[in-house]
Amino acid sequence: MKRTLISKTLNLPGEKVKVSGWVNSRRDHGGIVFLDIRDRTGVVQVICSAELINDVKDEDVVEIEGIVGKRPEKMVNPNIESGKIEIKAEKINILAKTEKLPFELKELNASQPVVLDYRPFTLRNNKIKSVFKIQAEAISSFRKTLEELDFTEFYAPAIVPTATEGGAEIFHIDYFDYDAFLAQSPQFYKQIMVGVFERAFTVAHVYRAEPSMTTRHLCEYISLDAEMGFIDSWTEVMDTCENVIKNIFIDINKKCKKELKTLDAVIPELNSKIPRLKLREAQEIILKRTKRDNRKEPDLEPIDEKEICLWAKEEHGVELVFITHYPTKKRPFYTFPDPEDPEYTLSFDLLYKGLEIVTGGQRINDYKQLTESIKKWGNDVKNFEFYLQAFKYGMPPEGGFALGAERIIKQALNLKNVREASLFPRDMGRIDQRLSLLQPKNSPSDQETKDKKNE
Ligand code: AMO
Repeated sequence: MKRTLISKTLNLPGEKVKVSGWVNSRRDHGGIVFLDIRDRTGVVQVICSAELINDVKDEDVVEIEGIVGKRPEKMVNPNIESGKIEIKAEKINILAKTEKLPFELKELNASQPVVLDYRPFTLRNNKIKSVFKIQAEAISSFRKTLEELDFTEFYAPAIVPTATEGGAEIFHIDYFDYDAFLAQSPQFYKQIMVGVFERAFTVAHVYRAEPSMTTRHLCEYISLDAEMGFIDSWTEVMDTCENVIKNIFIDINKKCKKELKTLDAVIPELNSKIPRLKLREAQEIILKRTKRDNRKEPDLEPIDEKEICLWAKEEHGVELVFITHYPTKKRPFYTFPDPEDPEYTLSFDLLYKGLEIVTGGQRINDYKQLTESIKKWGNDVKNFEFYLQAFKYGMPPEGGFALGAERIIKQALNLKNVREASLFPRDMGRIDQRLSLLQPKNSPSDQETKDKKNE
């Protein structure tokens, strides 16, 4: 007999079906047992006699043949899609038995570190799973919007010869007898691809050696990167970014209704334009609202990022705001200086409910100017010659942006920690397992320590 997906059983009252899935729960009532069976499309109630199922328990994988019936009126469960029906089991086959569960999966009470210790198991929790269904939809929407705008997808390398974003947050790797790094961003490659496709995007894993444990930083995250050539103005890049974000919210609302309900989350669609403020204008507003005078600072503090998003909500009815014109010395060497005031750049951050989720801007596309900028930032041009070819041999005016896939989901769903929006988060303390439980590579072994002590 062929498998029927649980969502399809709804329309088959009176028919015999075979459903397959995990045992979501078991409730014994005398000789009768109620099983909730879960597959990728939903949950359905199955009624069986106790002898038919004997020791079947939560998370066992089963296939059940039975007859679909309408539930009596007072047994209807409005909380699940298939709440009006149930299946009377005739035959049960166990496909896989589960070992003893570490803890209850449906109502997770474990702390976040424990939830992460048991990630392959806890990802099956309905709420946790819903976060990643929504994230998958956001990434798919990013792709769809850009493809409709004639962008071409490419795959950026993760092993790179130089840093792209400056700063110390870069992982060093041994590459045979040479030094190499893990990419902090696909920045150089997406710019190179503008010379090839004019418009390019990538969904890339990127790596940041973040030496702190904040609720915003991961050591590996998914960067949704886009880059476009022949721009008339750098504001076109912001327009494209705004379009991408707008569609992400629309698509999540359209395609993830069930998941949003599970998480009790509401994501308002973007019905007004996202306001755009220069950094210095934002600082003036913050001064007026809070008396905090940060007008000389090159960036916004987290507390000010929250404040300016509150302003956007009050004044413009949106929880996002573009902050533009960051100081040149605080942005990477490839950022285009504002011709009207070269101390500032034609670059932007997009803040959402108080957190930066996007960075972007126009890039220096002139070969000589870019070479000078590389030197001015104290870099050796020799290390950038490969990348520079893209500019040496003709690059149109261009710009782009990168959206953090975990950050947008964290903010949209009001999650407390960015780790909750990362399937397998990497941070200072964890690569799947807690690092504190392992022996550090360069620390002396127990025997060596003992030998030292005995010397
Ligand atoms: P930036 O370094 O600002 O810009 O990164 C872009 C976006 O990536 C996300 N992000 C992070 N998410 C989780 N953990 C981290 N440690 C982390 N660091 C950054 C944020 C951020 O807005 N090349 C430029 C982009 C460009 O100009 O196109 C860049 O990488 O959402």
